[in-house]
Amino acid sequence: MYNAIPVIAIDGPSASGKGTVAQLAADALGFAYLDSGALYRVVAFATQQKNIAWDNAEAVAECAKALSIQFKNGQIYLNNADISDEIRTEAMGKGASQVAIHAPLRAALVELQHSFCKPPGLVADGRDMGTVIFPEAELKIFLTASTEVRANRRYQQLIGKNQAANYESILLDLQERDARDKGRASAPLIMAKNAVLLETDHLTISEAVNVVLQNYQQKIRK
Ligand code: CDP
Repeated sequence: MYNAIPVIAIDGPSASGKGTVAQLAADALGFAYLDSGALYRVVAFATQQKNIAWDNAEAVAECAKALSIQFKNGQIYLNNADISDEIRTEAMGKGASQVAIHAPLRAALVELQHSFCKPPGLVADGRDMGTVIFPEAELKIFLTASTEVRANRRYQQLIGKNQAANYESILLDLQERDARDKGRASAPLIMAKNAVLLETDHLTISEAVNVVLQNYQQKIRK
């Protein structure tokens, strides 16, 4: 069904700026936006609340199937409670990457992710948007930056939100998360064969958004 609707898939490692770039590209095109990482964060949060261990694949997947997750006006609701701030912590990022290794959980979240694909189009950001969830995407972008630049961006982001931040531990955490995301058996973080590589070390957010939009215009002109 979603094949007829244009999808821009933006994948890449943690703190590469994908989320901001994807949201701005979606706004510019009037497309919907899917923050797939938020779903894994919600699952980490919900399982922790229920005392389900993050390494218990079946229990994590069963818990996820029973959740009511809603995105409204940029906020995320779990069973009608706004948990947007709770899931944005470093602890939930880490938890998300631990639950995300489980194939039964990934399978349980496929339909929900497909449901975001509505006319006139979708910009989806994550790790496996172009490889697994939307393999027929019109445009696939692999957005990345060096580990140091990403650690610095995450550091600035946390400081900006008045949260405690330590550059060295953020760097170590990112390296650990990258290794887990790339090394897992189920939907590992890899660049799709037909993706455009977008290195953002020396690009501003708006320059990166423009590259995405230019690539999209080129694709639809063909
Ligand atoms: O904000 P950050 O880029 O650090 O992470 P995120 O996009 O919110 O995703 C959190 C974690 O969820 C990642 O480290 C991945 O392990 C996992 N994830 C995934 O496995 N597949 C996706 N499509 C999106 C996120």
